[in-house]
This record gives sequence, C-alpha cells and structure tokens, in this order.
Amino acid sequence: MIFDTHAHYDDEAFSEDREELIGKLNENGIRYVVNIGTCRETCVQTLRLTEKYPFFFGAIGFHPSDIAGFNENEERWFREQAKNEKIIAIGEIGLDYYWDKEEEVQEKQREAFVSQLKLARQLKLPVAVHSREAAKDTMDIIKEHGQGLGGVIHCYSYHVQDALAYVEMGYYIGVGGVLTFKNARKLREVVEAVPIERIVLETDCPYLAPEPYRGKRNSSLYLPYVVEKLAEIKGLTPSEVEDITFKNAVDMYRISHVMNPVNAISG
Ligand code: NI
Repeated sequence: MIFDTHAHYDDEAFSEDREELIGKLNENGIRYVVNIGTCRETCVQTLRLTEKYPFFFGAIGFHPSDIAGFNENEERWFREQAKNEKIIAIGEIGLDYYWDKEEEVQEKQREAFVSQLKLARQLKLPVAVHSREAAKDTMDIIKEHGQGLGGVIHCYSYHVQDALAYVEMGYYIGVGGVLTFKNARKLREVVEAVPIERIVLETDCPYLAPEPYRGKRNSSLYLPYVVEKLAEIKGLTPSEVEDITFKNAVDMYRISHVMNPVNAISG
C-alpha cells in the first residue's frame, strides 16, 4: 500500500476526469493521499476533497509563489480550518527564488514562511516545505523557527549534507518522480545517504511524472515507478519500500488516530 504525501488533485489538469481517476486509486494500491493547498482557493478545494473522499487528508498554507494574498485575515481563516481533523499539516510553505528574483518579493516570502511556521507550532501541526533555489535561507529559517516541528522537505532538490541536517531536525525527505529521471544523480546520492525510515513518497501531481511518463500529467497511479527505483537504490523489495514509507508518512503526519480502517474502500 502506498501513501502519496503530496498531491494537487484540485488542479485544473484533473478537471476532465478527477472523479474517475480518484475512484481508481484505492484499487490500485494507493491507500492515502494528502492534497496540498497553495492559496486560499486551493485550500478551499482541498477541504472539499477531504470531505468527499475518506482516504484524502489535506494541508493548508500559502505557497511562496502565492504569498501576495497572505495576510492576518488568511491566518485567522487557517486557524479556524485547522480544527478540522482531516487537515493534518500546514503547507505548502517555503521559499521559491527560481520564480521570484526580486529581493523585495523574496523578503515577503521569508516573512510569510516564518509566520506560517509559527502558526504550525501554535496549531501543533507538521509542515510541508517547498524550497527551490533557496537552500541557505530555507536552512537558516528552519533552524531558527522550525526545529522539532516535524514534516517534510518536499520534492527535495538540494545536497546530501542539508538533507541529513533536516533529518537531524526531525524532518522527512520527500521523493517523487524526479528520482527516475536520467539526470537525477544528486537526488540519488541523497536517497543513498538518508535512512529509508526518513523518506516519504510523493507525486506533486499533476507535475513531475516519473519515467516513462516524464512530461505527461502525473498521478498517484505512477508512484510504483518511484517505489521501484527507491527499492533498487536501497537494496529492498518494492513491497518493503511501500510498507516502510507508508509508516513514515503516518508518523510524519501523526495521523494514526484518524485513519480509516484499512479495508474501508470508498470514493
Ligand atoms: Ni506541490
């Protein structure tokens, strides 16, 4: 059984066949999905998905590329929504200097990141962190404001040394389709160095489909390709990788108390 710790099924890429696709997940071994919000609108859609599908959980937060709309009002709204037991994390939050190069915008990103880390601490929720071309600032901010919060550095793209530092601070490393790419040497090194007990599976769908579907729309149904690669690198069987990363996801999101009975298939 597979746990997809990071997906965006609210995305318009799924408009045509969302229900049909989600209806197929359980029977194809995808046991749980965490849908991740990126702004107010996608957080509302995330809430709807968790209401509709018993095996969906949600994270709410403002993505660094969407922080223009983040303010005290939104924080209040988050506080309210976080009482919902299907909302299990704050995310995705973080820094993205790839899309935003201006210092002023980057400063705003850092402020929103810090205030959402503080919010997560108050709410006692783990975080889903997005970080792109912002290795040093992300590390500095997490060291100062994110120690012991728990959660995941999603779609991990930095060096081994930082990965081990995050693990040391209580974080998990999110690994998805990129691991199957031919140029994934850096991520491969990370996966070799980080204990399997600290790795979680994710799609980030509709983005980052694994080989042989690279460039196409991604979905949780393609996670077995990532499992296979991970198993090969770690010298484990695919089913061992599924079991261990499943447990990791449950521990990371601290949801053993709200999980559905394993045999309750629903849609
Ligand atoms: Ni994402």
